[in-house]
This record gives sequence, C-alpha cells and structure tokens, in this order.
Amino acid sequence: MKLNQRVRSYWEKEPCGTAEEIVGGAKPLSRKWFDKIEEFRNQVEPFIPDVVQFEKYRGKKILEIGVGAGSDHLRWAQAGARCNGVDLTEAAIKTTRKHLAYHGLKSNLRRIDAEKLPFKDGSFDVVYSWGVIHHSEKPEVIVREIHRVLKPGGVFIGMFYGRYSVLSFKRWMKYALLAGKPWRSFSDVIWHHMESIGTKAYTVGELRRMFSSFSGFEGKQILTWHDIVKWPRWIRSFFPDKWGWFIVVKALK
Ligand SMILES: C[S@@+](CC[C@H](N)C(=O)[O-])C[C@H]1O[C@@H](n2cnc3c(N)ncnc32)[C@H](O)[C@@H]1O
Repeated sequence: MKLNQRVRSYWEKEPCGTAEEIVGGAKPLSRKWFDKIEEFRNQVEPFIPDVVQFEKYRGKKILEIGVGAGSDHLRWAQAGARCNGVDLTEAAIKTTRKHLAYHGLKSNLRRIDAEKLPFKDGSFDVVYSWGVIHHSEKPEVIVREIHRVLKPGGVFIGMFYGRYSVLSFKRWMKYALLAGKPWRSFSDVIWHHMESIGTKAYTVGELRRMFSSFSGFEGKQILTWHDIVKWPRWIRSFFPDKWGWFIVVKALK
C-alpha cells in the first residue's frame, strides 16, 4: 500500500483532536463534542490566534490544507476570509463541514491529496497548513504546489514538527533507549511512532531550504504543551523555545 493510503486510513478512523480522552463521552458531531474539541485546543495550543492573526485576512481568499476537525477553519471563516479547505480524508471534510454549520458558516471543502492541488496557478492570497505537510509522503511536492497556487505576494502560514525537541527526546527515550535500541535516530522513531506512519520532523534550516523558491522565509521554533506535559514545573522552566515541538513557518511568494 502506498504511504499516503496508509496515512489516509489512519486519519479516517479519527480526525485529529477528537480522541475519547478529549471529547469525554460526548456524542460524535454534536455541539458538545465540538465544544470539547475547541476547549482542548485552546488549552494546549493557545498561541495559534496570535501567531496566525486570522482577522488580518478578512475578505482574502484562503486555502487550508489538512482541515482535520475544522478548528482553525472555523477561525478563518469567523474572521471573514473566503474559505477553501482540503483534506486527505472524508472524515475531516464531513467533520469540518458540520463544525462550520453549527456557526452558520460555509466553506468550499474537498477531499483530495494535497500533493496535487486542483486549483489554478495564483488562486489564493493565503495558504495555511497546521501540522499536516510532514504527514504526507512527499512534503516538498506539497510545498511546490503551495507556491504554484499562491498569488504573487501571497503568504504561506503553517506549522511543522521540530526534530530536535523535548517531545522527540521523550519519544526517543521510550522507543529507542528504554526499548534497548539506542541506535535508532529521532527521525526513525518519529516516522514509526508519531501519529500516522511516515511522519517527518525538521530543523528550521531544512525548512528554509524546502521553501527556497519563496522570496521570504521565517521559521520559529516554539515550546508547546506537548513538550512540557508531565515534566516537573522546576525542570520545564529551563526549557528554551528552541527545544520546542512546533516550528511555525511564514513564507512569502
Ligand atoms: C495532525 S492532523 C492536523 C489537522 C488540523 N490542521 C489541526 O491542526 O488540527 C493532520 C491532517 O492532515 C491530513 N493530511 C495528511 N496528509 C495529507 C495530504 N497529503 N493531503 C491532504 N491532507 C493531508 C490528515 O488527513 C489529517 O486530517
């Protein structure tokens, strides 16, 4: 089976951020279920609105790649952007559609593999993708497609996983060191033990090279809840942002 078919079957089972420990028994696709999803996201990734600044793009044409349960897509729609969204899974498209409908909002949503985007060159002011591209078989192909569909002067905003981070270290301890296989690399551990099979994680330098066709690039690593959870407070206060699991990227076409 091709890698993206395996990625798809993983995410079809459960859209991102909708695990039972998050939704706590709420009926799937109910208002309460979506409220729990929002509550958890605001708790663990509270910095997203500051980083993205959704309201700056009122009236702009945006494409979100990998809408998942639609949490950020809702923010784009509430901010008055002209929304388009894609995802590899039917589950994500259905969930996002329902999520927006509860708020009386709509978007042009399609189930496709973003390695081939069904849009004309220069279609969008903004392409947004949070924690998605590193799951695909060929991330660099998606980045090429993003460049193609952006208008000149358009912007990409997204998040990729950071390879040298506290979370990677925790995974490496569990699946390499404590499993008696200390020779396993961080990349190998992340590929096999981080969400869908084939997940990749990067350094800021690697992402800068991946976005070299863009005229501007900014990459910033940030420490997240995923890094610090379960560490004693006194230890985690020593962790700098450059050990963070998320790398936020902004790139200008
Ligand atoms: C970790 S979730 C992130 C979802 C959402 N952006 C969020 O922040 O909650 C990854 C999502 O990426 C989607 N995805 C993975 N590879 C993709 C591809 N090649 N094309 C489109 N979507 C993809 C998955 O189906 C899944 O919904």
